[in-house]
Amino acid sequence: MKIVILHGSPKGEKSVTMQYVKFIQKKNPDHEYMVHNVSKRIKQLEKNHRLFADIIEDIDASDGIIWSFPVYTYFVPAQYIKFIELIQERGAAKAFKHKYTVAISTSIHFYDYTAHRYINAVCDDLDMNYAGFHSAEMDDLLNAGDRKTLLQFADMFFYAIKNKVHCLKKFQPLQQNNFDFRLEEPTRQVDSNDKKVIVLTDNDDPGSNIGKMIQRFTSSFKKKPTVINLNTIDIK
Ligand SMILES: Cc1cc2nc3c(=O)[nH]c(=O)nc-3n(C[C@H](O)[C@H](O)[C@H](O)COP(=O)(O)O)c2cc1C
Repeated sequence: MKIVILHGSPKGEKSVTMQYVKFIQKKNPDHEYMVHNVSKRIKQLEKNHRLFADIIEDIDASDGIIWSFPVYTYFVPAQYIKFIELIQERGAAKAFKHKYTVAISTSIHFYDYTAHRYINAVCDDLDMNYAGFHSAEMDDLLNAGDRKTLLQFADMFFYAIKNKVHCLKKFQPLQQNNFDFRLEEPTRQVDSNDKKVIVLTDNDDPGSNIGKMIQRFTSSFKKKPTVINLNTIDIK
């Protein structure tokens, strides 16, 4: 079987999570694996559409997809979220449709379930066959019992693909809300006294709903809050 690994640690090959994926590969050598370090290469993938399209072609040709990632700050790494956004932005979602998939993470089990629920919801949005997740503690690979559990999980995944096991969806798709926010002047203004209020945004369109909501919100204060647009900051 052809298995694509979408790896989410910005550490790439040296990442702890990657060693779990490599362990599965080593113990299941009959399958063909295509590993993509999507988080480490996110800047290249954003700029170079061909590189991104190559990954999507691999996904299209695959039998199964493994989402492997570490938990960083209660969630998946930001680069991984960006990759997931690119899937929708570049119209690549259909390559994922009905593909069998699982998620594997390493962490210290602090809000790992938040990250896993997110990936589960992403898979449901992509109409994939989500067969489950394995949330390993970062040192599990050093323990024989935990190595066995990891391999059993991999076996379950290969079995699900081979036998076309029926997978259930967990999350409803988000309903698009096409409302038009009507901008009105506030009837009264809040005094923030000596408190400094900052609005952080990544919105570039003042005419959009969120743009108008920011305008309405900031004009509700006697002392206008500072609006900081993340797109204007040079974040390395
Ligand atoms: C910046 C940072 C944030 C982290 N945040 C969490 C967290 O919120 N929850 C958790 O369980 N582990 C957290 N961890 C631990 C990592 O998930 C763990 O070390 C993981 O094995 C790293 O995998 P990687 O080497 O594949 O990137 C964090 C680690 C770092 C470096």
